[in-house]
Amino acid sequence: MSRRADAWTAGAVVAVALHFAPAAQAGGDPPDPMAGEALAAARCAECHAIGRTGESPVAVAPPFRTLQDLWPLANLAEALAEGIVTGHPQMPETRLEPGEIDAFLAYLETLSR
Ligand code: HEC
Repeated sequence: MSRRADAWTAGAVVAVALHFAPAAQAGGDPPDPMAGEALAAARCAECHAIGRTGESPVAVAPPFRTLQDLWPLANLAEALAEGIVTGHPQMPETRLEPGEIDAFLAYLETLSR
């Protein structure tokens, strides 16, 4: 009985560890903030202020330096993976690949320093 419980626990721990392992680390590369910045510049800067200063081109789009105040980063990662739907017609549904999310969040972290 206790052996089975131990085996179950070990399995659950592995499952949880896998679930939280950042995808980029599974590939051996740490998330690259520069790639995140490039992604933001290419796909988000049309509407959002992506740097440390400046206003968003679309006034209602939150500047990226404030995103961490709006969303805990973990929630943001989940929302980006599933597709953010803000319920605002001006924001297209945005869905990023796991590697892109890690890079994007790494970039956001550099903004808060
Ligand atoms: C065409 C304009 C446009 C583009 C491109 C765009 N956004 Fe937005 N985004 C908006 C607007 C407008 C809002 C505010 C929506 C609202 O508050 O209803 C917004 C809100 C957000 C929010 C906050 C959502 C919330 O509910 O608080 C996040 C996070 C976000 N955008 C991420 C991104 C990312 C990441 C990209 C690039 C991959 C991106 N956006 C590209 C217009 C845009």
